[in-house]
Amino acid sequence: MDNKVTAPTSEPSELNIGEDLKALVASGYDKVAAQYLVWAGPRPTTTRSTFIEKLSSNLSPGARILELGCGAGVPSTQDLVRRGFSVTGVDISSAQITLAHEHVLPLAGKGQHVEFLVGDMAAMEFDVGSFAAVLAFYALFHLPMDEQPVMLEKMVSWIKPGGYLLANLHAEEGDVHRPEWIGGVPMFSSGLGVEGIRKVLNDLVLEGKLEVLEDIVDHEKVGSFEEPFHWVYARKPCAINSQLS
Ligand SMILES: C[S@@+](CC[C@H](N)C(=O)[O-])C[C@H]1O[C@@H](n2cnc3c(N)ncnc32)[C@H](O)[C@@H]1O
Repeated sequence: MDNKVTAPTSEPSELNIGEDLKALVASGYDKVAAQYLVWAGPRPTTTRSTFIEKLSSNLSPGARILELGCGAGVPSTQDLVRRGFSVTGVDISSAQITLAHEHVLPLAGKGQHVEFLVGDMAAMEFDVGSFAAVLAFYALFHLPMDEQPVMLEKMVSWIKPGGYLLANLHAEEGDVHRPEWIGGVPMFSSGLGVEGIRKVLNDLVLEGKLEVLEDIVDHEKVGSFEEPFHWVYARKPCAINSQLS
Protein backbone atom coordinates (compact mmCIF):
# COMPACT_ATOMS: atom_id res chain seq x y z
CA MET A 1 0.00 0.00 0.00
CA ASP A 2 1.18 3.50 -0.76
CA ASN A 3 1.26 5.42 2.56
CA LYS A 4 2.43 8.67 1.02
CA VAL A 5 0.41 11.61 2.39
CA THR A 6 -0.55 14.06 -0.30
CA ALA A 7 -2.24 17.42 -0.02
CA PRO A 8 -5.93 17.31 -0.93
CA THR A 9 -6.50 18.62 -4.41
CA SER A 10 -9.53 19.66 -6.40
CA GLU A 11 -9.82 19.35 -10.11
CA PRO A 12 -11.23 22.58 -11.57
CA SER A 13 -14.39 20.68 -12.51
CA GLU A 14 -14.92 19.73 -8.82
CA LEU A 15 -14.79 23.30 -7.57
CA ASN A 16 -18.12 24.91 -6.95
CA ILE A 17 -17.32 28.47 -7.94
CA GLY A 18 -20.70 29.78 -6.77
CA GLU A 19 -20.23 28.35 -3.27
CA ASP A 20 -16.69 29.75 -3.04
CA LEU A 21 -17.89 33.22 -4.01
CA LYS A 22 -20.70 33.06 -1.48
CA ALA A 23 -18.29 32.01 1.27
CA LEU A 24 -16.10 34.98 0.31
CA VAL A 25 -19.08 37.38 0.45
CA ALA A 26 -20.35 35.95 3.77
CA SER A 27 -16.96 36.07 5.43
CA GLY A 28 -16.35 39.59 4.10
CA TYR A 29 -19.57 40.91 5.65
CA ASP A 30 -18.93 38.94 8.85
CA LYS A 31 -15.61 40.78 9.19
CA VAL A 32 -16.81 44.28 8.31
CA ALA A 33 -20.44 44.27 9.51
CA ALA A 34 -19.91 47.02 12.11
CA GLN A 35 -17.77 49.12 9.76
CA TYR A 36 -20.28 48.71 6.91
CA LEU A 37 -23.06 49.91 9.18
CA VAL A 38 -21.16 53.11 10.00
CA TRP A 39 -20.53 53.70 6.28
CA ALA A 40 -23.90 52.68 4.81
CA GLY A 41 -26.34 53.38 7.63
CA PRO A 42 -26.45 57.17 7.19
CA ARG A 43 -25.96 57.05 3.37
CA PRO A 44 -28.64 59.04 1.54
CA THR A 45 -31.00 56.61 -0.19
CA THR A 46 -33.70 58.86 -1.61
CA THR A 47 -34.69 56.47 -4.38
CA ARG A 48 -35.07 53.61 -1.95
CA SER A 49 -37.12 55.73 0.48
CA THR A 50 -39.39 56.87 -2.34
CA PHE A 51 -40.01 53.29 -3.47
CA ILE A 52 -40.65 52.11 0.11
CA GLU A 53 -43.15 54.94 0.53
CA LYS A 54 -44.98 53.91 -2.68
CA LEU A 55 -44.93 50.24 -1.74
CA SER A 56 -46.20 50.93 1.78
CA SER A 57 -49.16 52.87 0.52
CA ASN A 58 -50.24 49.76 -1.44
CA LEU A 59 -49.98 47.33 1.47
CA SER A 60 -52.34 46.69 4.34
CA PRO A 61 -51.19 47.34 7.90
CA GLY A 62 -49.20 44.37 9.18
CA ALA A 63 -48.63 42.95 5.65
CA ARG A 64 -46.02 40.20 5.45
CA ILE A 65 -42.75 41.26 3.78
CA LEU A 66 -39.64 39.26 2.91
CA GLU A 67 -36.38 41.20 2.69
CA LEU A 68 -33.43 39.36 1.16
CA GLY A 69 -29.89 40.44 2.08
CA CYS A 70 -31.30 42.67 4.81
CA GLY A 71 -27.87 43.24 6.38
CA ALA A 72 -28.00 45.04 9.74
CA GLY A 73 -31.52 46.24 8.92
CA VAL A 74 -30.48 49.89 8.83
CA PRO A 75 -32.25 51.83 7.47
CA SER A 76 -34.77 49.77 5.47
CA THR A 77 -35.83 46.94 7.76
CA GLN A 78 -36.15 49.46 10.57
CA ASP A 79 -38.35 51.61 8.33
CA LEU A 80 -40.59 48.65 7.39
CA VAL A 81 -40.93 47.57 11.02
CA ARG A 82 -41.70 51.12 12.16
CA ARG A 83 -44.48 51.14 9.54
CA GLY A 84 -45.97 48.11 11.30
CA PHE A 85 -45.24 45.44 8.68
CA SER A 86 -44.45 41.87 9.57
CA VAL A 87 -40.92 41.29 8.28
CA THR A 88 -38.75 38.25 7.60
CA GLY A 89 -35.15 39.30 6.97
CA VAL A 90 -32.60 36.94 5.42
CA ASP A 91 -28.85 37.41 5.27
CA ILE A 92 -25.91 35.12 4.54
CA SER A 93 -23.76 36.86 7.14
CA SER A 94 -24.39 35.89 10.76
CA ALA A 95 -22.65 39.09 11.94
CA GLN A 96 -25.12 41.15 9.92
CA ILE A 97 -28.04 39.24 11.44
CA THR A 98 -26.66 39.80 14.94
CA LEU A 99 -26.69 43.55 14.19
CA ALA A 100 -30.20 43.30 12.73
CA HIS A 101 -31.43 41.72 15.98
CA GLU A 102 -29.88 44.60 17.90
CA HIS A 103 -31.12 47.41 15.64
CA VAL A 104 -34.51 46.16 14.51
CA LEU A 105 -36.10 43.78 17.02
CA PRO A 106 -36.54 46.46 19.74
CA LEU A 107 -38.72 48.43 17.28
CA ALA A 108 -41.27 45.64 16.87
CA GLY A 109 -44.63 46.35 18.45
CA LYS A 110 -46.63 43.91 20.53
CA GLY A 111 -47.83 41.07 18.31
CA GLN A 112 -45.81 42.33 15.30
CA HIS A 113 -43.93 39.41 13.76
CA VAL A 114 -40.29 40.21 12.95
CA GLU A 115 -37.77 37.44 12.37
CA PHE A 116 -34.26 37.08 10.92
CA LEU A 117 -32.78 34.03 9.23
CA VAL A 118 -29.13 33.36 8.43
CA GLY A 119 -28.66 31.73 5.05
CA ASP A 120 -28.08 31.99 1.34
CA MET A 121 -31.15 33.62 -0.20
CA ALA A 122 -30.82 31.33 -3.22
CA ALA A 123 -31.18 28.26 -0.99
CA MET A 124 -34.15 29.57 1.00
CA GLU A 125 -37.53 27.94 0.66
CA PHE A 126 -40.82 29.68 1.34
CA ASP A 127 -44.37 28.78 0.46
CA VAL A 128 -45.54 29.97 -2.93
CA GLY A 129 -47.56 33.18 -2.64
CA SER A 130 -46.78 33.74 1.02
CA PHE A 131 -45.60 37.39 1.06
CA ALA A 132 -47.33 40.64 0.17
CA ALA A 133 -43.94 41.95 -0.97
CA VAL A 134 -40.48 40.55 -1.58
CA LEU A 135 -37.60 43.03 -1.47
CA ALA A 136 -33.83 43.06 -1.93
CA PHE A 137 -31.71 46.19 -1.57
CA TYR A 138 -28.06 46.20 -2.71
CA ALA A 139 -27.95 42.41 -2.28
CA LEU A 140 -28.93 40.51 -5.47
CA PHE A 141 -25.70 41.65 -7.09
CA HIS A 142 -23.73 39.49 -4.67
CA LEU A 143 -25.15 36.38 -6.36
CA PRO A 144 -23.23 34.90 -9.29
CA MET A 145 -24.66 36.18 -12.57
CA ASP A 146 -26.33 32.91 -13.57
CA GLU A 147 -28.21 32.74 -10.25
CA GLN A 148 -29.81 36.17 -10.56
CA PRO A 149 -32.57 35.24 -13.07
CA VAL A 150 -33.41 32.14 -10.99
CA MET A 151 -33.51 34.26 -7.84
CA LEU A 152 -35.85 36.79 -9.44
CA GLU A 153 -38.17 33.96 -10.50
CA LYS A 154 -38.15 32.54 -6.97
CA MET A 155 -38.89 35.97 -5.53
CA VAL A 156 -41.87 36.30 -7.84
CA SER A 157 -43.12 32.84 -6.87
CA TRP A 158 -43.11 33.80 -3.16
CA ILE A 159 -45.29 36.88 -3.80
CA LYS A 160 -49.05 36.67 -3.38
CA PRO A 161 -51.12 37.49 -6.44
CA GLY A 162 -51.42 41.27 -6.40
CA GLY A 163 -48.23 41.58 -4.33
CA TYR A 164 -45.05 43.49 -5.07
CA LEU A 165 -41.41 43.02 -5.97
CA LEU A 166 -38.92 45.79 -5.18
CA ALA A 167 -35.20 45.34 -5.78
CA ASN A 168 -32.10 46.99 -7.10
CA LEU A 169 -29.29 45.41 -9.08
CA HIS A 170 -26.04 46.35 -10.77
CA ALA A 171 -26.70 48.48 -13.81
CA GLU A 172 -23.54 47.24 -15.49
CA GLU A 173 -22.85 43.81 -16.93
CA GLY A 174 -20.07 41.58 -15.64
CA ASP A 175 -18.34 40.27 -12.54
CA VAL A 176 -16.65 42.69 -10.16
CA HIS A 177 -13.87 41.25 -8.00
CA ARG A 178 -12.58 43.77 -5.47
CA PRO A 179 -9.41 42.41 -3.86
CA GLU A 180 -9.65 45.07 -1.14
CA TRP A 181 -13.09 46.43 -0.31
CA ILE A 182 -14.16 48.09 2.95
CA GLY A 183 -11.81 47.04 5.75
CA GLY A 184 -9.49 45.44 3.18
CA VAL A 185 -11.69 42.36 2.70
CA PRO A 186 -12.10 40.89 -0.78
CA MET A 187 -15.60 41.24 -2.19
CA PHE A 188 -17.53 39.91 -5.18
CA SER A 189 -20.53 41.26 -7.03
CA SER A 190 -22.00 40.78 -10.46
CA GLY A 191 -24.63 41.98 -12.88
CA LEU A 192 -26.45 41.04 -16.05
CA GLY A 193 -26.65 44.68 -17.05
CA VAL A 194 -29.85 46.67 -17.44
CA GLU A 195 -30.82 44.97 -20.71
CA GLY A 196 -30.00 41.51 -19.32
CA ILE A 197 -32.32 42.08 -16.35
CA ARG A 198 -34.99 43.60 -18.59
CA LYS A 199 -34.95 40.42 -20.68
CA VAL A 200 -35.50 38.30 -17.55
CA LEU A 201 -38.35 40.59 -16.46
CA ASN A 202 -39.85 40.59 -19.91
CA ASP A 203 -39.95 36.77 -19.95
CA LEU A 204 -41.83 36.88 -16.62
CA VAL A 205 -44.20 39.48 -18.06
CA LEU A 206 -44.84 37.36 -21.17
CA GLU A 207 -45.59 34.37 -18.94
CA GLY A 208 -48.19 36.50 -17.12
CA LYS A 209 -46.24 36.29 -13.86
CA LEU A 210 -45.29 39.94 -13.50
CA GLU A 211 -46.27 43.46 -14.40
CA VAL A 212 -43.41 45.97 -14.31
CA LEU A 213 -44.50 49.25 -12.74
CA GLU A 214 -41.16 51.06 -12.75
CA ASP A 215 -37.75 50.21 -14.14
CA ILE A 216 -35.16 52.95 -13.72
CA VAL A 217 -31.42 53.48 -13.52
CA ASP A 218 -30.55 55.74 -10.61
CA HIS A 219 -27.09 57.30 -10.38
CA GLU A 220 -26.35 57.24 -6.69
CA LYS A 221 -23.50 59.12 -5.09
CA VAL A 222 -21.43 56.60 -3.14
CA GLY A 223 -18.61 58.33 -1.28
CA SER A 224 -16.72 60.42 -3.78
CA PHE A 225 -18.04 58.72 -6.94
CA GLU A 226 -21.34 57.99 -8.61
CA GLU A 227 -22.62 54.46 -9.01
CA PRO A 228 -25.60 53.47 -11.20
CA PHE A 229 -28.16 51.05 -9.76
CA HIS A 230 -31.00 49.43 -11.68
CA TRP A 231 -34.26 49.61 -9.69
CA VAL A 232 -37.23 47.40 -10.39
CA TYR A 233 -40.67 47.86 -8.88
CA ALA A 234 -43.15 45.31 -10.12
CA ARG A 235 -46.40 43.63 -9.27
CA LYS A 236 -47.64 40.09 -9.53
CA PRO A 237 -50.86 40.18 -11.53
CA CYS A 238 -54.08 39.62 -9.69
CA ALA A 239 -57.68 39.61 -10.87
CA ILE A 240 -58.88 41.53 -7.85
CA ASN A 241 -57.20 44.87 -7.12
CA SER A 242 -57.35 44.97 -3.35
CA GLN A 243 -55.04 45.96 -0.49
CA LEU A 244 -52.82 43.17 0.71
CA SER A 245 -52.34 41.72 4.13
C1 LIG B 1 -24.52 45.81 0.43
S1 LIG B 1 -25.21 44.93 1.77
C2 LIG B 1 -26.85 45.62 1.82
C3 LIG B 1 -27.51 45.41 3.14
C4 LIG B 1 -28.90 46.05 3.25
N1 LIG B 1 -29.83 45.45 2.31
C5 LIG B 1 -28.80 47.53 2.98
O1 LIG B 1 -29.42 47.99 2.04
O2 LIG B 1 -28.09 48.20 3.72
C6 LIG B 1 -25.48 43.34 1.03
C7 LIG B 1 -26.03 42.31 2.02
O3 LIG B 1 -26.40 41.15 1.28
C8 LIG B 1 -25.99 40.01 2.01
N2 LIG B 1 -25.84 38.88 1.08
C9 LIG B 1 -24.91 38.75 0.10
N3 LIG B 1 -25.08 37.57 -0.54
C10 LIG B 1 -26.15 36.98 0.03
C11 LIG B 1 -26.83 35.73 -0.19
N4 LIG B 1 -26.42 34.88 -1.13
N5 LIG B 1 -27.89 35.43 0.60
C12 LIG B 1 -28.30 36.29 1.57
N6 LIG B 1 -27.69 37.47 1.84
C13 LIG B 1 -26.64 37.83 1.07
C14 LIG B 1 -24.67 40.45 2.65
O4 LIG B 1 -24.30 39.63 3.72
C15 LIG B 1 -24.99 41.88 3.05
O5 LIG B 1 -25.52 41.98 4.34
